[in-house]
Amino acid sequence: MDWGMKNRLSRILQPKTGRTVMLAIDHGYFMGPTTGLEKPWEAIKDLAQYADVLMLTRGVLRNCVPQDLDKPIVLRVSGGTSIIGKEMLHEGMTVDIDDVIRLNASGMAYSIMVGTDYERDTILDLSRYADLAEQYNIPLLAVTAVGKELGKDARYLGLACRIAAEHGAHLVKTYYCDDFEKVVEGCPVPIVIAGGKKIPEKDALQMAYDAIQKGAVGVDMGRNIFQSENPVAMIQAVRAVVHDNATPEEAFKIFEEKK
Ligand code: R5P
Repeated sequence: MDWGMKNRLSRILQPKTGRTVMLAIDHGYFMGPTTGLEKPWEAIKDLAQYADVLMLTRGVLRNCVPQDLDKPIVLRVSGGTSIIGKEMLHEGMTVDIDDVIRLNASGMAYSIMVGTDYERDTILDLSRYADLAEQYNIPLLAVTAVGKELGKDARYLGLACRIAAEHGAHLVKTYYCDDFEKVVEGCPVPIVIAGGKKIPEKDALQMAYDAIQKGAVGVDMGRNIFQSENPVAMIQAVRAVVHDNATPEEAFKIFEEKK
């Protein structure tokens, strides 16, 4: 692996622990002004300091995030459909590599839709970004399994993650599931988990803990942080799970103390 690629990857996976707390705030690219993210920077300005990475779109980055923010960015580079459209998540390439570079991104995020009518389009576009990722040493995060119609079991998620890695993703984002260790075992690149829809803080911390114990290298979490009753306390609790191996009980205690 070339120096530039390794260097950018180390901006994402923190060298001290090899893990990451990515704060996902890209939801608006297909959900519009979703609850908690109506004003993106207002929502996360107190959270950013506790995140290792921000994952967002170029529109939010350019318009809402201060330019002097010292925080690595993973830029969402896929899109094209919305939650009210007929082909939700039939995504294509939305950002030119020149703009990824102009924005000084440390990584790119692209969604593949394995098992849908348009899996081929999305996997081919992922491969195209994998070529660009190697050309410019910018890590590629493949996002799998977004959408409630898709299965979220180890067999499906294992298949989707493995396909993403085979086509050149450097990191894969997926969901936690029973037998998650099988998903990790079958995937030759590091995995981070999305949080999914908002659940009680205790349960979200348990999920993050289980994912880490079973081999995930971190989280790329959105709603379970920014929709929490206390987002700043929640992200600190998640951090403790990811970087300090805090148990769910210890992490929940941190949440209670900080809120
Ligand atoms: C979905 O495509 C987006 O990338 C979200 O950022 C992702 O699902 C993670 O957010 P959440 O933890 O809210 O599921």
